[in-house]
Amino acid sequence: MFKQKINTEKINYKSIKPVFDNSKKRVYIETYGCQMNVNDSELVLSILQDNDYSLTKNIDEADLVLVNTCSIRENAEQRVWGRLDVFRLAKNKKPKLKIGVIGCMAERLKEQLLEREKIVDLIVGPDAYRSLPDLLRNVEAGQKDINVLLSREETYADICPVRMDENGVSAFVSIMRGCNNACAYCVVPYTRGAERSRNPETVVNEVQTLVDNGYKEITLLGQNVNSYLWKHKDNPDKNVNFAQLLEMVALVSSQMRVRFATSHPKDLSNGVLYTMAMYENICNCIHLPAQSGSTRMLELMNRKYTREHYLERIAKIREIIPDCSVTTDIIAGFCTETEDDHKQTLSLMTEAGYDFAYMFKYSERPNTKAARQLQDDVPDEIKTKRLNEIIELQNKLSLESNRKDIGKIFNVLIDGLSKRSDEHFSGRTSQNKTVVFPKGNYNTGDYANVRIISCTSATLIGEIEEAKKRETITELKNMIDETINIVEKKIKNTIKKEKKKK
Ligand code: 5AD
Ligand code: SF4
Repeated sequence: MFKQKINTEKINYKSIKPVFDNSKKRVYIETYGCQMNVNDSELVLSILQDNDYSLTKNIDEADLVLVNTCSIRENAEQRVWGRLDVFRLAKNKKPKLKIGVIGCMAERLKEQLLEREKIVDLIVGPDAYRSLPDLLRNVEAGQKDINVLLSREETYADICPVRMDENGVSAFVSIMRGCNNACAYCVVPYTRGAERSRNPETVVNEVQTLVDNGYKEITLLGQNVNSYLWKHKDNPDKNVNFAQLLEMVALVSSQMRVRFATSHPKDLSNGVLYTMAMYENICNCIHLPAQSGSTRMLELMNRKYTREHYLERIAKIREIIPDCSVTTDIIAGFCTETEDDHKQTLSLMTEAGYDFAYMFKYSERPNTKAARQLQDDVPDEIKTKRLNEIIELQNKLSLESNRKDIGKIFNVLIDGLSKRSDEHFSGRTSQNKTVVFPKGNYNTGDYANVRIISCTSATLIGEIEEAKKRETITELKNMIDETINIVEKKIKNTIKKEKKKK
């Protein structure tokens, strides 16, 4: 395969890691919600670092606290209200401290947030981060300020995120923003606006910079990556779709693993699957949220596919990429869900044989289609019971999937030390399964071949294959030496006996 000619001229590349500078104003950032929010906080830090702020990991040192928020479920918002109570104590101790709420909750609640929580000085929605320096000038002058304008164009394409990950191995790269689907339960189209795709050249440039800085894995992010489409300004033949972008990114470096999230079952094309199969460094893992196994529920949810279509996509994945892992999101107890609908979700999970799932109780979000048109009529105890059944089944499926890996060898990218032991590393397979194994002579960020020897439903346990080979060779050598010793002794004895006879 020839490397496609890509213009990898860099844009605006300063340090991609935080610069800690005590002479500057200090910002403390806390992030809730999805991977997109994690990446947005990195964009925000980049904008602030260019404007005389420096990151602090200690809230007591901060001049500004930003909390990047999530609205997807009621409990995500509850957590943020709880944190604001804690920030109030910090502000009581240090009245000059400024508090900003950014992200999805800022967008959803707008001025109401200022009214309800008096300690908040600043509200900024996901498309308004470029205005942060201006807003902060007003806030520093003692005013409250807000910008929650959504945009049809903003992709922050030219801003290089300042990476806040700990290990320097994995990074998120946002390829699009917003969402044009209208899933009845979902608040995202209201908090993140309409879908827009980012210029592919800027995506490739960002990936190249990550390669140059030693990163080994990127995850391309979008609410629905399969509908990524970059429209060339005057030649539609030069448009770039997701399969093409994926190939461009995979070609940047064969040492850089490529993942992506999230896929929508109505848009996951065979083209993407063939591209995945073609490039070793595109990971064999697809996150394909089903939400429900009942076509009636899927229609009410406005998901625009049936159970049969979903299962056909799973069959196609298995056909084109036989060792691909498939993960999902499931919602328990959506409006009008019956026991039969729920049973269909359980049977879909078994048929799909998921490796992993995120599982939630339905949580009604104000102003969504479901909140406006449907009754949240499944009692909470039934939602809990169904969710527990879903979790129990998934644990079983994950264990089955992991057991099948015992005896196999995987190329594992090392993320860092295992949580439980300094003598073990934790890394991930192409399928995104976590593997724990004795460290050997490896380092974080290395690839290691690991043989799986046992597992739990959450983790594979292995040993480095090279070490294993060395062990086997040493064992063999010892056996041969022992055999030689025995044979030598026997020969000597025979010679002695022969001599005595004479
Ligand atoms: N209630 C529960 N779960 C939800 N999700 C999205 N909206 C809701 C809601 N209102 C889940 C979906 C989605 C994941 C990111 O969160 O499963 O795929
Ligand atoms: Fe991410 Fe959606 Fe939560 Fe916003 S509401 S942070 S897009 S999960």
